[in-house]
Amino acid sequence: MDPADALALLMSPAGRVDPYPTYERLRAHGPVVQAGPVFYVVTGYAEADAILRDARFGVMDDGLRDQFMPGWRESPAVLSISRSMLRTNPPDHSRMRRLAAGAFTPRRIAAMRDVVQAQADDLVDRLLAGGRGGAPVDFMAEFAYPLPVGVICALLGVPAADRPLFRRWATDLTGVLEPEITADELAVADRGAGELRAYFTELVAARRRAPADDLTTALVQAHDGHNSASAPQDGAPDRMRADADGESLSGDELLANLIVLLVAGFETTTNLLGNGLVALLDHPDAAATLREHPEFAPGYVDELLRYDSPVQLTSRMSTEPSRHGGLDLPPESWVIVMLGAANRDPRRYPEPARFDPWRPQIHPLSFGAGPHYCLGAALARLEAQVAFPLLLRRLPGLALAGAPERRVRLTLRGYATLPVTVGREA
Ligand code: HEM
Repeated sequence: MDPADALALLMSPAGRVDPYPTYERLRAHGPVVQAGPVFYVVTGYAEADAILRDARFGVMDDGLRDQFMPGWRESPAVLSISRSMLRTNPPDHSRMRRLAAGAFTPRRIAAMRDVVQAQADDLVDRLLAGGRGGAPVDFMAEFAYPLPVGVICALLGVPAADRPLFRRWATDLTGVLEPEITADELAVADRGAGELRAYFTELVAARRRAPADDLTTALVQAHDGHNSASAPQDGAPDRMRADADGESLSGDELLANLIVLLVAGFETTTNLLGNGLVALLDHPDAAATLREHPEFAPGYVDELLRYDSPVQLTSRMSTEPSRHGGLDLPPESWVIVMLGAANRDPRRYPEPARFDPWRPQIHPLSFGAGPHYCLGAALARLEAQVAFPLLLRRLPGLALAGAPERRVRLTLRGYATLPVTVGREA
């Protein structure tokens, strides 16, 4: 199968639901393959890692977007994501990332263990209550979603009562991260972006009136400190300033980064919990070992991240000529980096389709690499390292209660529903 056909297959509903066989068809052509005149796809681990760290590559900027995605400014979803750190290049990227990074230092994250533990324990209580008498419960709705959303909301200072709002908004918005999107899907993503923006506009106003000890207040102050003479009307887009002094945010950036922190903070971790639980239930011996030895959780979680990555791809564009995977890439090459395929590169991982938490030096590429390396990686790892041993210990009879249903998404890979029976508490 030639690379263009393999890519078309990957974009089909069946290809999105199970991309792994298609990755192997792409890999058969080499670790980097050309799929169009200036279009490349990377499935090799070393090559993916090198491109993500290569300063000659960046995320698509406004100029390139104008060239390759005419009309993108009309889409609130694309506009919102493009104003966040996720889709900006230095120096804007470094400035925005620095402002949020203080909330994600190893010390701050380690200090959140008790919050995570308490929320996870509480959710297991609820699973037990909902699953009484053998009734099936949806693990996604009852655990995999509320844990990460609860934790990121605690960090951002989002009121607990508002948490149920975000699931649909975030699912809608993240459609825009798919490599291909229909006009209808874009309309849905735009609706999600509008709802999230309206929500955060209000939260920003509330924190401005009454500052709190949370990340939203810190970012609002980073914005207002610079714009104190003319804090924008809530919701009114202010222009991107040319005089950014290195430590401030424009109004659009403030909202865009709050939205990305919220959405990136749970969409992905929800899928790690769902994908990871299915993998553990498929490997009962490995699960039994983790139940007995919760101290092995770090290695298990890294292997779960590798085995079925919650984020399957990202993309970059080159600004200069480069050479990767034996190919010469001209400037303005558009490269899809298949993180999920790199995580199954047999040159890096012997028997890559086997779940093996004892692999040495796992280092999955699931959190990316280089300047955009996931800001929340330590938090996501902490949540999973707490959740899996706890679930296995308190719910030793946890079992699938029917076939889980995959979302038809390639970029953010996860389950729509995951019915389980919880059994008795240990
Ligand atoms: C960036 C994956 C959890 C916040 C990224 C990137 C990946 C990723 C692959 C890089 C994208 C790129 O290079 O284009 C994941 C996975 C997670 C997870 C697999 C869970 C298992 C979180 C959490 C947060 C978070 C809990 C908390 C807020 C971010 C942010 C960025 C990012 C802000 C942008 C960083 C930048 O552009 O500098 N994530 N993430 N993520 N992630 Fe995560």
